[in-house]
Parts: sequence; structure tokens; C-alpha cells
Amino acid sequence: MNNPNSAAPEANKQRSEKDRVLIFDTTLRDGEQCPGASMTFEEKIEVAELLDDMGVDIIEAGFPIASEGDFHSVAEIAKRSKDSVICGLSRAAFNDIDRCAEAVKHARRPRIHTFLSTSPVHMKYKLQKEPQEVFEMVVAQVTRARNHVEDVEWSAEDGTRTEIDFLCKCVEAAIKAGATTINIPDTVGYTTPAEYAQLFRTVRERVPNSDKARFSVHCHDDLGMAVANSIAGVEGGARQIECTINGIGERAGNCSLEEVVMAMRTRGDIYPYWNNIDATMLTRASKLVSAVTSFPVQYNKAIVGRNAFAHESGIHQDGMLKHTQTYEIMRPEDVGVSKTSLVMGKHSGRHAFREKLKELGYELGDNSLHDAFNRFKALADKKKHVYDEDIVALVDDEIAQAHDRIKIVSLSVVAGTQGPQRATLRLDIDGKVVTEEATGNGPVDAIFNAIKTLVPHTAKLMLYQVHAVTEGTDAQAEVSVRLEEGGKEVSARGADADTLVASAKAYINALNKLSQKRQSVNPQTAAG
Ligand code: KIV
Ligand code: ZN
Repeated sequence: MNNPNSAAPEANKQRSEKDRVLIFDTTLRDGEQCPGASMTFEEKIEVAELLDDMGVDIIEAGFPIASEGDFHSVAEIAKRSKDSVICGLSRAAFNDIDRCAEAVKHARRPRIHTFLSTSPVHMKYKLQKEPQEVFEMVVAQVTRARNHVEDVEWSAEDGTRTEIDFLCKCVEAAIKAGATTINIPDTVGYTTPAEYAQLFRTVRERVPNSDKARFSVHCHDDLGMAVANSIAGVEGGARQIECTINGIGERAGNCSLEEVVMAMRTRGDIYPYWNNIDATMLTRASKLVSAVTSFPVQYNKAIVGRNAFAHESGIHQDGMLKHTQTYEIMRPEDVGVSKTSLVMGKHSGRHAFREKLKELGYELGDNSLHDAFNRFKALADKKKHVYDEDIVALVDDEIAQAHDRIKIVSLSVVAGTQGPQRATLRLDIDGKVVTEEATGNGPVDAIFNAIKTLVPHTAKLMLYQVHAVTEGTDAQAEVSVRLEEGGKEVSARGADADTLVASAKAYINALNKLSQKRQSVNPQTAAG
């Protein structure tokens, strides 16, 4: 692997113009078109501004004829555009093309993208037209668009299922009529990388004026090959990739912008292509599109998923702490993620646990670390996610217990509708293990009664409070207890995945504190 890390993505590449790949983002058109992803006017403006800042070469801002709203958002995006070309989509009908031209006309760099189906199945069933009629429409639509703007893209819809002779004939005619970009979409996500690459080679070889246009890929992800197919198309000679943020789009979506950009960048050793995208903005773009569409990003999604730079297994965490390149082929900061996260869970090892404690501001001695690690493992076995707050609660508890006279050995409780509730508690008091079984009006009352028998005291319970340290039914419970004795109050907390154990811990921690208080006043009278 020549480039094990994306640290110096394209800086070292010889940037020849022939290897430049334009990034055409269609999040606001193909992406917005998919069920449930519609965005408001303001949201579209915000997304477009971010895409422009990120270095997207062409923003397909919408389909102006589709609705008044679409028209206005394309027009506003065009007016506010900075560096990006602003493109609108139109079918072959002249009023469609004219409306599109009207919407993009205020862009610094306007483009009309007009398309027509060329595959036998689309021509016969969808258009219900003969190939010759379709051919004539291609010439007419491109000519009409070219009367409005110089930058015209023509797409052969369902291009990958189009007969090659007819495809070449249409492409040649479109270029002759003035199309500057020719897109051959894999509309139904059917092609394969080798086939798509060959398609571009064949069309470029067979169409006599192919050197007068830029070729474009547009891949759908029905078979999960949109990114691979897009790059294959580029290998076959295409120099524009149509894609969307988070891969949103019709059905299974489109080629994902962040994936295709980072794949070419990270494997620059085999792909000589370059683009203008500022990859450090990818995570921001992903979050924005996810927020405005309410489409969640799958956790394990490449590049922008929340697990993309997270490591849980002990072996991986250990490797990462020794050298990040052991398990990361990209640096998180290169795509705008602040840092790798070591997710603490049941697979985490001691090394990662110690690092996590340092990050949280704890430096434990070897024995305390050993005990805290064992408790963490026990917690991770019970709980799906161990959050930083859980670790803080656990370590605070550990530190509190280190010098305690009274420790819990075990607790079992019988609770439920058939009272009285019963608790069996074993405590270690000054090294001696004692057991008590008690009943009560509820399980907490039973536990506290058992404690009172094993540790007789006159302190009064002033406060008992429970709260969840984190969210979810498997969250750790943190119980706070306040005791009052002779006008003095002590408060203590106990944390555990089991609320009843946390309650016992809190009460006992408070008794330990009270004992320490008494000892400091009169060292002779050790509490019980
Ligand atoms: O998938 C497709 O064919 C399209 C065209 C309009 C380019 O989205
Ligand atoms: Zn599409």
C-alpha cells in the first residue's frame, strides 16, 4: 500500500487537466426526489451554499418545471451562487427547457441539463415512441437548450440498457447539436464496474465527435455498486461524477459524494484523478443533509457514519493507541471528524480503558485501575453502550469505596406484586462478612432495613433520589442518599446498572462517610 493514509491526498499528484474529475452534486434534485426527503426553500439554500463552499463544480439545484417552489429555489440558488455552476433539470419538452433556462439565468455559470430515455423498454412503454422520433427529439431538445445557454448537458436516460448503436447515434447527434456534457446514466443501478467502464470506452471510440464533450457518470445504487461503477466509468474516460451527499436519491439512492471522493483520494496510488472538493467539509455536509431531510445516516456508513472512525474491540483499540495506521486508512480530520473515538464496550481492553480514564481526567494507581477495569467489564457485559458518564460514575464509586470500612459483598432481592418484599444482604465490615435478611414496604425499604440491622445507627434518612446516568432502559442508575445524625448531614451516591444495588451502595457510602466523620471527631468511637 503506497498511500496508507490520506494525509497528503492530492498534493503530491501531478495535477494534469486530463485527470481532473468534475463533481456534480444532485442532492437537491435526484436526492430530494426520493420519498420523504423533501426540503424547504431555506434548507435548499443552506445546502447549496455549503456545496458551493465545499468546492462542488456543478450543483443540480432542482427541476424547475416540477413546481413553483422548485422554480424559486433553483432561481434563488442561481442568484446566490459563487463558484459552482448552477444547473436545472428539464425533460425534452420546450416549455420545460424554457422554464429551466429562466430559473438558472441569474447564475454566474448556468447550465441546462436535459434528458430523454433511449433504452428499448423506456422508449416502448414509457415514451411510447419509435427510436427515430426519440432521435429527433434529442436533437431538438439540445438545440433548444443551447439557444439559452452555452453549457448544456444531455442525458440518455436508462443509458446502460440502451442498444449501443442507438446510444452512439444519439450521443453523436447531441454533441453536434451543442451538448457540452454527455451523461450516460445507470438509471436503474443495473450495470457492473467492468461493463460500465467498457461502455464509456466504446462510446468514446465509436462516436466521431466524442472529443468535443465531457462524459459523465450517474449511477444508482440498487445493487450497491454505485460508487464502484462511477469510478469504473471514470477509468473508461468519463470526467464528471454525478453524486449526492449521503448517497440519497431515487430508490436505493445515488453514488455517495463522500465515498467516491475519498475512495479516489485515499487510493490515489491507483487512481490518478483529482477534484476540487474540500474533504474536511464532508462530515458537515452529511450532517446538514441528514438534518434537513430527516434521513438518518446509517451508523456504519463509509466516511460519514458515526462508526466510521470508532473502534471498540480491544485488539483494535490497542493497535490504534500504538499507531493510528494500524486500523485507519484515512485520518478522521481529513473528512472533518475531530478525532477517532474509542468506544468503550465489552471488547475494550485495559490499555484503552486507561487512556479513556486519562481523557476523563483520572489517574488511578495499579490496584484501583485493576478494580475499576473489572467493574467496567462487568458493567459492559450488562449494558450495550458504556458512555463516558457511566465510567465517571463507576470510577467515582471505586474511589469512594477504596477506603471504606463497609463494603457490599452481595445483594439479592425479591420484589414484585406479592409482598412483603425481601432483601438478603451480605456486607464486609472491617474484613468480617455478615449476612442479614429483611423485609420491607418495597424492595428499597427491605434493603435499608437489612443495612440498619447489620450497621446499627441513629442517622435519619433525609433524602433518597434516583436518576439515570444516561438514556435507555439499560442505563446506569445513580442514587443519592442524605443522612442526618446529631445535626450533621452527609450525602453520598451509588451507581449501578441495577437500581436496587445502586440504592444499597448509596446508603452504605453515606454510612461510611458518617463513620469517617465520627472518627475524625473522636478516633476511639468507630461507627456501627
Ligand atoms: O437516473 C437518471 O437517469 C437520472 C437522469 C435524469 C439523469 O436521474
Ligand atoms: Zn438519477
